[in-house]
Amino acid sequence: MENIKAYVQENKDRFINELIELLKIPSVSADTAYSQDVIDTSEAVKASLEKAGCDFVEICETDGYPIVYGEKMIDPALPTILVYGHYDVQPADPIELWTSPPFEPVIKKTDIHPEGAIFARGACDDKGQMYMHVKAFEYMIQNDNLPCNVKFMIEGEEEVGSVNLKTFVENNTEKLKNDVILISDTGMISNQQPSITTGLRGLSYVEVEVTGPNRDLHSGLYGGAVANPINILSKMIASLHDENNHITIPGFYDNVEELSLEERAEMAKAPFSLEKYKNALKLNDVYGEKGYTTNERNSIRPTLDVNGIWGGYIGEGAKTVIASQAFAKISMRLVPNQEWEQITELFTKHFMSIAPAGVTVKVKPHHGGQGYVTPIDSIGYQAANMAYTETFGTPAIPVRSGGSIPIVALFEKELKSKTILMGFGLDSDAIHSPNEHFGVFNYLKGIETIPLFYKYFVELSKK
Ligand code: BES
Ligand code: MN
Ligand code: MN
Repeated sequence: MENIKAYVQENKDRFINELIELLKIPSVSADTAYSQDVIDTSEAVKASLEKAGCDFVEICETDGYPIVYGEKMIDPALPTILVYGHYDVQPADPIELWTSPPFEPVIKKTDIHPEGAIFARGACDDKGQMYMHVKAFEYMIQNDNLPCNVKFMIEGEEEVGSVNLKTFVENNTEKLKNDVILISDTGMISNQQPSITTGLRGLSYVEVEVTGPNRDLHSGLYGGAVANPINILSKMIASLHDENNHITIPGFYDNVEELSLEERAEMAKAPFSLEKYKNALKLNDVYGEKGYTTNERNSIRPTLDVNGIWGGYIGEGAKTVIASQAFAKISMRLVPNQEWEQITELFTKHFMSIAPAGVTVKVKPHHGGQGYVTPIDSIGYQAANMAYTETFGTPAIPVRSGGSIPIVALFEKELKSKTILMGFGLDSDAIHSPNEHFGVFNYLKGIETIPLFYKYFVELSKK
């Protein structure tokens, strides 16, 4: 693996250009207007795996978008790594806030990425990070040093909840059999300080609907005499947090895993500057649950956030109206031991119970998933740490992330193996936001680090 650095240097322009081609296809899974593009992207991923050296690649149809499966089995006696990633991306809107079109990738320099970053929807989440694995695999095939078997499972519905992947995994446990699952779909602390994600939050996502009168009303003629669904919805939502920013849903915290003071002290050792954090977001202060630090609030604590709220008149000028209905989309990020289906039920029961007479309330569950924590004494974690240490010159720090990849908990349940989250993105890469980007440094470093994970994982497995 000594020549991986040289291989990356020699091929970096091609690696970047190939990723740019993949980023040009707008594979937005949430919006059916892009359904052909999502399908085209699965074909492009299939072709890239074939070209890189898989013996067998197939498109697995599902009730939704296809899953691309590929493998290179060299010896059944050797370990097998299952690489998971996703080729679908988030919608690009609000499109007017992009400084260059989301599906016309360009390389631009930023303060954090002085050597340039690729700007495009999906650059970091997850096409860029997924494609690092394809190129790292290409290197191992080209240099005849692939040390074990590898399986790729790249899906097209991660951003919409991986509902069909769940069924696919349940029905294909033998095919997907592996010794470790490797995913690059998270981040790290900084380009100077690598970290390995040891936890992901779970998720419960719901939509609520509040209905008052059977039609929109004149706000003068009826105002004050009937329940205004928007007023009521705002009140109901506001009541979901108390003055300490604790969530008020009865039973919500029942199963929450409380970390010991020692564990919290360990977490606090990760480098973090509150001033830089505030400055990056142009905030005059942070906000959150009393008694917890910023890094605790966004990783080991459960949260509830409105993701969107609408109703009534939002056009130009003023219209005097009481809307018949108001809506909101609400997500709850969960921590280990909270069961997402139970949380959805608790939310529903509570939300219905706080509705005043004069309105009717509906709660529609969307998707969800369990949180995940992985131990740091596993072979997989150690191999990842050895790989980062070699390419970054400093060991990785274990970090629990606030994001969710709901399928990871299911992998453990169905496939009985641990997932190692080797992310190379940065929080400042603006995933899900306008101007998403992925550092060229990060992309190439990822390609360089992944083969070392293979090497060390196989070495440690022998012991
Ligand atoms: N890759 C992200 C999750 C992520 C990003 C985890 C950074 C940790 C660090 C993933 O694509 C994602 O966006 N997941 C969704 C959940 C999904 C069910 C829509 C999320 O976290 O909102
Ligand atoms: Mn992702
Ligand atoms: Mn995402």
